[in-house]
Amino acid sequence: MKVAVLGAAGGIGQALSLLLKLDLPAGTDLALYDLAPVTPGVAVDLSHIPTAVKVTGYGKEDLHTALAGADIVMIPAGMPRKPGMDRSDLFNINAGVVKTLAEAIVQQCPKALVGVITNPVNTTVAIAADVFKKAGTYDPRRLFGVTTLDVIRAETFVGELKGKNPTEVNVPVIGGHSGTTILPLLSQVAGVSFTDEEVAALTHRIQNAGTEVVEAKAGGGSATLSMGQAAARFCISLIKGLQGDAVTEYAYVEGDGEHARFFAQPVVLGKNGVEKLLPIGTLSAYEHKAMADMLGTLQADITLGEEFVKNN
Ligand code: NAI
Repeated sequence: MKVAVLGAAGGIGQALSLLLKLDLPAGTDLALYDLAPVTPGVAVDLSHIPTAVKVTGYGKEDLHTALAGADIVMIPAGMPRKPGMDRSDLFNINAGVVKTLAEAIVQQCPKALVGVITNPVNTTVAIAADVFKKAGTYDPRRLFGVTTLDVIRAETFVGELKGKNPTEVNVPVIGGHSGTTILPLLSQVAGVSFTDEEVAALTHRIQNAGTEVVEAKAGGGSATLSMGQAAARFCISLIKGLQGDAVTEYAYVEGDGEHARFFAQPVVLGKNGVEKLLPIGTLSAYEHKAMADMLGTLQADITLGEEFVKNN
């Protein structure tokens, strides 16, 4: 098995690569690619950790070698937010980054499972999809926007509020990955109840948790450690799926199009990526309205990505 991390020298990339070095199954090849000259050094550094995962680093010119034959590609390449920025402010730079990387995936590992972390995820996933589509290699079951961070944040905040161990809390989070498109379904959390005020406050906190980190880091970037953990968890779930276990995760995928072309929802992972789309269940009146209010934004984010590929 081969896993490639594109953007591996960045804040998320390094945290993710460390966790993958520790947690990937023995015998896995871990290929680290980044434009930053430090990348081969990051690989050497990680290679001294005694696990049976072989780490190799690739610089600027070696994207194609890094990707050759990869089974899974995780993409945290691109610019993160600074205070005052919206995820959509990243579009101008990151759209091109994701397009370039997707074009290389088409050539080197068209059947890989691809997890896009680069923001704005609502848009960059549409870009990757349409690059693959243009090339004739698109399989919607194999492309994911990684929204696991929204889920782990929701679980942490609910655990905190209700005095529960967060590892025992499950919170569905659907929709997209920015602002109001992030929709936690608190009405579906088993074993706890919330007042209307708690629902409004928690929903707002989960939707703005990224900004909480951006502001606390005061210009030094956005979530990297929690995102590294979220991405590692998602990547390990993809691996388990490839190995034949049925694992359920939330991810932003092209599903049946009922709400939008791409939508974060629960999926069962298997040998071909998405084995099965699971239903989002029954929504409360509050969640129903929140969903109706955000679908226009989500749709506009998706269209932006589609237009970008059409015009470039
Ligand atoms: P960072 O700036 O620390 O690292 C980004 C890395 O990407 C840098 O090492 C840079 O050299 C590299 N890079 C830039 N262009 C590249 C290219 N064409 N090919 C390969 N590497 C390239 O940023 P950080 O904090 O790691 O964030 C990365 C991305 O992840 C950002 O777009 C950020 O907004 C996004 N993000 C996504 C989250 C999610 O939940 N999906 C959560 C947090 C951040």
